[in-house]
Amino acid sequence: MKRNGRATIATHAILPGSFDPPTNGHLDVIERAAKCFARVTVAVVVNPQKRSPMFSLDERESMLKSCTAHLPTVSVTHFRGLLADYVKDIEADVIVKGLRAVSDFESEMSTALMNRSLSGVDTLFLMSDQKYSFVSSSIVKEVFFLGGDVAALVPEPALRIMSAKRAGAHRST
Ligand code: PNS
Repeated sequence: MKRNGRATIATHAILPGSFDPPTNGHLDVIERAAKCFARVTVAVVVNPQKRSPMFSLDERESMLKSCTAHLPTVSVTHFRGLLADYVKDIEADVIVKGLRAVSDFESEMSTALMNRSLSGVDTLFLMSDQKYSFVSSSIVKEVFFLGGDVAALVPEPALRIMSAKRAGAHRST
């Protein structure tokens, strides 16, 4: 990786996402990124373009902070607007994303190229562990709110916040 024409080693990685909610697949990628980089900033997007989040920004950040409390070099924050601008603001050396399957690659490739053209920062991909290749936040939410057991797919602190939300939803219907 080059910055100002000089070879550097990436030390600060940003790992962006919606995390609505964080899954064990996310946590696995965060833990592995923490082994590769001196510092990892997990950045929660405030308003994902694709949909309105089920969990508030506070809930998503709080789930991630609890799930990553055992990782001293990982911090959790949030950003609005363009990821490329935020990457420059916090002076991250590299963007890290997880790839579950070839189907993820198509959209991730154009996103990575756009982010590099806007910020000059590369995206590195970590392959998701195969046991999480079918796990997405959307599928976890759907199964959980229809009463299914997702305990093996979601970190325990996240499951607690999800359960409180489901109990609240049941009370108000
Ligand atoms: O967990 P997700 O939903 O796959 O994360 C997608 C995310 C948040 C990384 C992406 O939507 C994003 O970077 N949003 C910020 C807005 C932005 O920069 N859009 C242009 C991308 S080329």
